[in-house]
Amino acid sequence: MCGIYASYSLKAEKKVFEGLKRIEYRGYDSWGVATLVDGKLLLKKEVGKLSDQKNFKFVESKLSLGHTRWATHGGVTKVNAHPHLAKNKSFALVQNGVVENYQKLKSELQSDGYNFISQTDTEVIVGLLEKEMELNFEKTLSTSVFIKVFKKLAGRNTVLVITSEGQLMTIRDGSPLVAGKNSQGEFYFSSDVLSMSPDAEKYMVIKSGEMAVFNSEDSSFSVLDIKTEQKIKTDFIPLEHKLDLANITMDIGKDSYESYMLKEIHEQSSMLPNVIRDSKPKFLMAAEMIKKAKQVFTLGCGSASYATGHTAYLLRKTGILTLAVEAYEADSYLELLNNDSKNSVCIVFSQSGETADTNEIVELMKAKGVKIISVVNMPGSTLTQLSDLSFMLQVGPELAVASTKAFLGHVLWGITISDIICGSKFNDLEIKINEFEYKLKEWFANKSIQNNIKNIAKKLTKCEHLFVLGRGNLYYASLESALKLKEISYIHAEGFSSGELKHGVIALISKDTPVLCLVAEDKNKANMLSAISEVKARGGKTIVIAKENNELYDNWIQLPDTNDYVFLSSVIPAQLITCFMAVEKGYDVDKPRNLAKSVTVK
Ligand code: AGP
Ligand code: GLU
Repeated sequence: MCGIYASYSLKAEKKVFEGLKRIEYRGYDSWGVATLVDGKLLLKKEVGKLSDQKNFKFVESKLSLGHTRWATHGGVTKVNAHPHLAKNKSFALVQNGVVENYQKLKSELQSDGYNFISQTDTEVIVGLLEKEMELNFEKTLSTSVFIKVFKKLAGRNTVLVITSEGQLMTIRDGSPLVAGKNSQGEFYFSSDVLSMSPDAEKYMVIKSGEMAVFNSEDSSFSVLDIKTEQKIKTDFIPLEHKLDLANITMDIGKDSYESYMLKEIHEQSSMLPNVIRDSKPKFLMAAEMIKKAKQVFTLGCGSASYATGHTAYLLRKTGILTLAVEAYEADSYLELLNNDSKNSVCIVFSQSGETADTNEIVELMKAKGVKIISVVNMPGSTLTQLSDLSFMLQVGPELAVASTKAFLGHVLWGITISDIICGSKFNDLEIKINEFEYKLKEWFANKSIQNNIKNIAKKLTKCEHLFVLGRGNLYYASLESALKLKEISYIHAEGFSSGELKHGVIALISKDTPVLCLVAEDKNKANMLSAISEVKARGGKTIVIAKENNELYDNWIQLPDTNDYVFLSSVIPAQLITCFMAVEKGYDVDKPRNLAKSVTVK
């Protein structure tokens, strides 16, 4: 969840500050920077978003370390913000992850007389390092002490320290970390490769179980395996994605839109064909792997789990028994795997490719021989490296925390693979997607449709509860629509099958309760019309998202004039509604409270 950025360079503190702003999407509760000046580590920390920080005064330095936090243990306070400084001020430390055994470690330290100043699990690592240094009569942190302490930590953690001697050490286990360098002899470390784009010319991924050490004295850089403590060959590769991320994250990256989210919603009418562009051989290979598999699973979290859930629904309709797994509830499914599950396949969706819940299950499945097919939107991600067959969504960087174009890209990937398995020709699908893209562009350009959505959003701004009904092909669309409303407008929205309404949920429907209803021109239309009547009979107010109007509908949002890809188009109105509602309420659309773009903690 958090963002880590470190720099050995001229104006290192300024570089770190700018680097942190490029990865702030990963977590933005608070931020902090530790900078080495004349042998002393100077600390600056604040609660709130780094990007809200005005007239920051940079100190001259060559070594600096920064962190943007997404709190897991301990409130959002200045004391709990990272970096955390050793009591003897010999090192500053940042962590990405959760020390799952922190309570036991903390009480052992406390009984040894260690006084904690923060409520974080992170400070336990600081305490353990200081205690081990004391036992070894060390004034400054050594790599062997760092490794010894790191091995005591349970959970997926990446920890990075800079010392008053000008050394930088980091160990990765799970949460992502990359090292970068340039021809001026500068070194960088970051939670994601794209954020180093303006600073580094080459990069290498620090893998789980590896330690990287940089010495500013002689600019030496080495990587070792923390199990054997043997050095590993460093292999820097060109950082091709020379996106000037500074641009993308500045206002000009939004074009004329008031938020990245609104821009990315509209981009859906041009990016979707990229999902299958130049990927015909891989799609045919994936289809063969799935058809031949004895067991087929899909796997994801949050929005990605709705996209994989829909993919599983479509594959079952082709006759392939497919189990949709939400990563955080995977344990019972893992029991279905034996130690030789070579002919099992798992289709994994993740826009970041760094979701800890997802990657942990992928690692467990791989250990049992399961073949992994992944679809990711971030180049060089951990999930891509774990995959037997990996796809890039190619919908462009998604900077808003709430997923829109990546989600629709995942759903389109699922629709495409099931169409291929049903015998559709790839080229015909390309034509179908391009036709849909044209219809979607027309729909976005239709002012009366767009103004109607804005007016409905204004009316819904006051509501605290909202229900979203879907059925069959639009069931997962209702879940995703509800999640968008939760995430961005902070209202209690629930999605569920319209079939479920009469089995209890209808008790919540009273006069004027707003109910969003997703209606496709398919065999479930009659069921949806019955559910809409049941809602109206109790005084509920229906807002129906459908291609055609009906006298039963209190409000109607017209869908594009096509039955193709109705799932994709049925989700867009809720994306827009939640955007407009959030703006109306004065919320931060791109960085909603408590969320982060890449959930790298369990
Ligand atoms: C999306 O709007 C959510 N913020 C969240 O549910 C997200 O889909 C989930 O955390 C999975 O992320 P991933 O796609 O990067 O794996
Ligand atoms: N667990 C640490 C904390 O709560 C780190 C969280 C993060 O990865 O940002 O401070």
